[in-house]
Amino acid sequence: MALMTTDTRYTKVAIALHWAIAALILCNLALGFFMEGFEQPLRGFVIQTHISSGITVLLLSIVRIVWRLTHRPPPFAPGTRGWEKGLAHLVHFLLYVAMVLMPLSGWALISANPPPPPPGQIEAAPAPVPGGAAPAAAAPKARRGGPTKLWWVIPWPKIGPIQRMGTTPQGIAEQKLLHDTLVERHMQIAWIIIALLVLHVGGALKHQFVDGQAEFARMGIGRGRRAPR
Ligand code: HEM
Ligand code: HEM
Repeated sequence: MALMTTDTRYTKVAIALHWAIAALILCNLALGFFMEGFEQPLRGFVIQTHISSGITVLLLSIVRIVWRLTHRPPPFAPGTRGWEKGLAHLVHFLLYVAMVLMPLSGWALISANPPPPPPGQIEAAPAPVPGGAAPAAAAPKARRGGPTKLWWVIPWPKIGPIQRMGTTPQGIAEQKLLHDTLVERHMQIAWIIIALLVLHVGGALKHQFVDGQAEFARMGIGRGRRAPR
C-alpha cells in the first residue's frame, strides 16, 4: 500500500513533507538574510512572505513529527556503521527541534511589539528597566504589532502574553529587550540549522556517492530497489 513505509523508502507523505519543509526553510533562510536590504514597499511584502512561509513550516513540521512518531522509517542500508547511524539520528532529531524552534522564535519576536492602543487612548511612554538598556524614547511606529495574515488571507494571532507586555510603560521597555534577545536567538537558530544542513546533506552525499547506497531514493529522488506495492 502506497502509504506504508517500504523497506527502502520513506512513505510518500513523509517524502512530500520533507521536500516541502526543506524548500520553505531554504527560501526563508535566503529571505531572512537578504530582506534587510530591501526598501519599502517591497520589504513589507518580503517580510509577510517570510512570516507566512515560516508559520507554514511550523504547521507542516508538527504534521511531520506526528507522522514520524506513527510511521517507522526504512532501516539503514546494510553496511552503515554504528557511528553513522548514531550521528544521523542525532542530526535528524536536532533538525526536528530546529524546525519547530525556528518559526516559534520568529512568531515570538513579531509578538514582542506593543499592540495598537485602543481607539482614543494615548500611547504609554516606556519606563526604564532596572539594570537594563536606556529606555527607547517612545515605541516607534515600526515596532507596532500590526495584524498578520498568512499568505495575505488567513488571520494569524500574536502570542498574547508577549504582546500584552507592551501595554504598560514599564512593559514597553522590557518588551523591547525581549524583542532584541529574540531577534538574536532567531539568527543563532538559523546558523545552527545551516550547520546541521551541512552535516545532513554531506552525510546524504557520502552515502550516495562514496558508499554507493541508494540514499537519495530513500527520500524519493531517483530509483532505489522497487518497493512492494
Ligand atoms: C532545510 C532542509 C532540510 C531539512 C529540515 C531536512 C530534514 C530531514 C529530517 C528531519 C530527516 C529525517 C527523517 C526521519 O528519519 O525522520 C531527513 C532525512 C533525509 N533527508 Fe533531509 N532535510 C533537508 C534537506 C535535505 C536535502 C537538501 C537533501 C538532499 C541531499 C536531504 C536528503 C535527505 C535524505 C536522503 C534523508 C533520508 C535519510 C535516511 O534515513 O537515510 N535533505 N531530512
Ligand atoms: C523556517 C523558518 C524561518 C527561518 C529559516 C527564518 C530565518 C530568518 C533569518 C536568517 C533572519 C535574518 C536574521 C537577522 O539578520 O537578524 C530572519 C529574520 C526575521 N524573521 Fe525569520 N525565519 C523563519 C521563520 C520566521 C517566522 C515564523 C517569523 C514570524 C512569524 C519570522 C520573522 C522574522 C523577522 C520579523 C525577522 C527580522 C528580524 C529583525 O532583524 O528585526 N521568521 N529570519
